[in-house]
Amino acid sequence: MIRQDQGVFFLDTNRTGYIFRISGQGHPEHIFYGTRLEDPNIESLLLKRTAGVGGTVAYDESDPMYCLDILPLEWSGIGKGDFRESPCEIKMPDGTFVTDFVYQSHEIIDGSVASEILPGSIAKAGESQTLSILLKDKLFDIELTLLYTVFPAVDVITRRTILRNRSGRTVVLRKMMSMMLDLPASVSIRTTFHGGWIKEAHKQSEPIGNGIYVLQNTTGASGNRCNPGFLVSEGNASESFGRVYGFNLVYSGNHYSAIERSHQGSVRVMTGINPHCFEWPLDEGAVFETPEAVMTFSDQGFSGASGHFHDFINRHIVRGDWKDQERPILYNTWESFFFDFSKSRLIGAAKRAQKLGAELFVLDDGWFVGRKDDTAGLGDYETDHRKIRGGLKSLSDRLKRMKMAFGIWVEPEMVNPNSNLFRAHPEYAVRISGRKESYGRNQLVLDLTNPAVRDYIVEKVSGLLDSADITYMKWDMNRHITDMYGAGLADQGMFFHSYILGLYDVLKRVFGPRPHILLESCSSGGNRFDLGMLCFSPQIWASDNTDPVERLSIQTGLSHLYPLSTIGAHVSASPHQQTLRSTPLSTRFNVACFGVLGYELDPKHLTASDRKEIRSQIKFYKEHRRLFQYGRFLRHDSYKDNKVHWQVIDPKRDVSVAGFFNLMSHASEIPDILPVSGLSPEREYQIKTVPKKLSVRRFGGLINHILPIRINPNGFLFRLIDRFYSLTDCVESYSGTGKALMAGVRLNTPFIGTYYNDKSRLLGDCDSNLYQITSL
Ligand code: GLA
Repeated sequence: MIRQDQGVFFLDTNRTGYIFRISGQGHPEHIFYGTRLEDPNIESLLLKRTAGVGGTVAYDESDPMYCLDILPLEWSGIGKGDFRESPCEIKMPDGTFVTDFVYQSHEIIDGSVASEILPGSIAKAGESQTLSILLKDKLFDIELTLLYTVFPAVDVITRRTILRNRSGRTVVLRKMMSMMLDLPASVSIRTTFHGGWIKEAHKQSEPIGNGIYVLQNTTGASGNRCNPGFLVSEGNASESFGRVYGFNLVYSGNHYSAIERSHQGSVRVMTGINPHCFEWPLDEGAVFETPEAVMTFSDQGFSGASGHFHDFINRHIVRGDWKDQERPILYNTWESFFFDFSKSRLIGAAKRAQKLGAELFVLDDGWFVGRKDDTAGLGDYETDHRKIRGGLKSLSDRLKRMKMAFGIWVEPEMVNPNSNLFRAHPEYAVRISGRKESYGRNQLVLDLTNPAVRDYIVEKVSGLLDSADITYMKWDMNRHITDMYGAGLADQGMFFHSYILGLYDVLKRVFGPRPHILLESCSSGGNRFDLGMLCFSPQIWASDNTDPVERLSIQTGLSHLYPLSTIGAHVSASPHQQTLRSTPLSTRFNVACFGVLGYELDPKHLTASDRKEIRSQIKFYKEHRRLFQYGRFLRHDSYKDNKVHWQVIDPKRDVSVAGFFNLMSHASEIPDILPVSGLSPEREYQIKTVPKKLSVRRFGGLINHILPIRINPNGFLFRLIDRFYSLTDCVESYSGTGKALMAGVRLNTPFIGTYYNDKSRLLGDCDSNLYQITSL
C-alpha cells in the first residue's frame, strides 16, 4: 500500500497510484496521481526545472531554478514565492503571515488514525494504511502533520492536516485546508454540483480557465447551493472512459474548495473548512485538526470515479447496525397530511401503506404541541395528545401489531420563539445582543456551541427515542444560520466550526448508544448531503422535490458522489406539488427505485389500479432491494438530449436493471438504443422489459381507437374504467452474450400515431421503462 524509497513516497491502491517526494529543500513535491504504475520511472514523471521562468522568485540563493510557484506541491504556505492560492493563512507569533513548512520525519502506520473530535472514515484491520508526514515551520516551532490514509480495495486516499503550536505564543488560524494538490495542465474540466431548495445537486461541467474558481457554502451547513464534492477531469472523459479525479470532504459545515489554473498551466485543488468568518486562536500546546478530505481517481470515466466513492462510503463512512444492511421501504406522512392529521387518519394511512407493502411508518412534522403550522413548538417535542390520543407509545404499539416499524421526525437544532424552551431559555438561541435577529421559517437556531444547549438536546431526543418503539428518526434542519454569536467562544471566528463540532457531539451522544436507530438526515431536503452526516445517518433525504423529472437531475448529480444506499427517494402524488407536472406512476417509481424507496402520498386517494401497480412496484423492489441499494450504479452517456440512462448491476454480474427515461417526447424520434454495460462479456443474458401499466387517463379520446365501444373521454364511464383498468405497455425480450448486449440493444419504435399493437412502445413525456437483465 504505502512505501518509501529514497525520499519518494508511493501510495498504491488496487488501481491507482499516488507519488510524491520530499524536495531537496524539504517541501513535499507532488509527482503523480493516476492509474497505478507497477514500475514507475520517477525521472520521467518529475516536473523538469531546466530553465528559470521569468517573473518568479527563487526560494533561496542556492538554486535559481527552485521556485515554489512552479513546483507541483502537496502543501504550500505564504510568502516564499508560491503566489498561487495557499492552503493556510496563519498569523504567526511575530504577527506576519509567512509560513514555510518543511519535512522533519515520517511514519507509516497500519490502519487509520481517527480524529479526536471530528467524524471520519473507519476501517477494519488490514483495510487501510496511513502515512504521517511531519513538517515544521522554518522559523517557529509550529508543526504541521499531513496524514494520508490509503484504502486499496476502494481506490480512495484520504487526507487531513493537524497543526500543533509549540511556539510558546498564540497563533491565529485564518485558513487551514484539509488537503492541497497540484495536478498537471492536462486536467481541463471541473464538474460541480449546485442548486438550492428543491433543485439540489445539479451537475455543471465547465472548462478550467486561468484564475481561481471557488466552491463554497456560507450558510452554516455543507449546503444545497454547492455540494462539497466535485470532480476534475481531462477533456475527453465521458461516463465510461477517460481520466477523472474526485474530491469530497467529511464535513457538514461551511466548506471551501478552490480550483486554480496557474500561469504555468498546472491545476491546484484544495478543500477544507471555509475561511469565511473563520478565525481560530491556537494557544501554546494546542492542536487544530481539519476534517478528512477524500480523493479518488479513475481512468474509467465519471461512473468509474463514482463507483470508488460509492464503495468507500458503504464500507468506510456508514457505520452502526445499518451499515451494509438493506433499508426498509417507508411510508412518510408529510406530503399526505402536512400538519393536519389525527391518530385515526394516521392509522388508516398506515394500514393502507402496509397493505401496499411498506415496512416503516414515518410520522413527519406536526405531532407535537403547538405544531399546527410552522410557527410554534420547535424545541419542546411534547406529544400533542389531541392529535395522537394515547401518545407515541400507543401509536407505536398499534403499528407493531400491524407489523410496521415506527419512525419519527424532529428538528432538534432549532427553536420557535413561540415555545416553552425559548420562554425559559431565550439565551439558547443564536443571536446577538442589541441586534434584531433574522428569521428563517419562523425559527431560530439553537446555539450548539453552548454545552448546556447540547445537553438539553441530547436529553430531549434520547428521551423521545426511548419513549416508544422507535427504530427510525428523521433529523431535520430547516434554516440557514445568521446572527452568529456564541457567548462562550474565545473568538467569534470560532462560531461556525464550533457549531458543527457541537452537532457532531450531540449526534454521537444520542445515536452512539442506539446503533439500531436508522437515522435519516434532512435539511429542507438535501441541504446537508455530505460525508460528515453520513458518518451518523446511513441515509439522507435527497430533496423535498419528488417530481421524477426533477429527481433525474438531482439523483444523477448526487450519484456522482454518493451511493444509492444513502439517497432517500420517494414516490409522491401527481400532479406534483411543486412543479404541477403530471407524471405516470411507473416513472415516479422507476426513478425512486434507484435509491432508498419510500412513498409519500395519501394512499386513501389511490385508485384500485394505482394500488395494484404500487403493490407490484414494492414487490419488485423487495426482490431487487440489494441491487437497487448496493449494486454498482452506472450512468450512461446518451446520444439524445431527451433521454437519461441509468443502470445497476450486482457485483457478481448475474442481475442488472437498466432504467430508460424519456423526458420530453419528440415526434417520430430516431430509433432508441438502450446502453448496457458491466456484464460478463462471455456469459449469456436475457434482457426483458419490466411490465409497465399505463393509466387509461393518459390517452383521453384516443382510447376509442382501441376499445370495442365508444366512450366520452370526459365522462363518468371513462373515469370509472380508469379506476379499475390500465393499459399494458409492450414487453421486449432479447438474449445474447454480455458482449453482444453491451454493443447496445435496439428497442422497438415508440408509438408515433401510425399504429397501435402489442409491439408498440408507449412512451409519452416523462415516461420510462425498466429493463431487467438476468444471466441465463
Ligand atoms: C422539511 C423537510 C420535509 C418535511 C418538512 C416538515 O422541509 O425537508 O421533508 O419534513 O420539513 O416540516
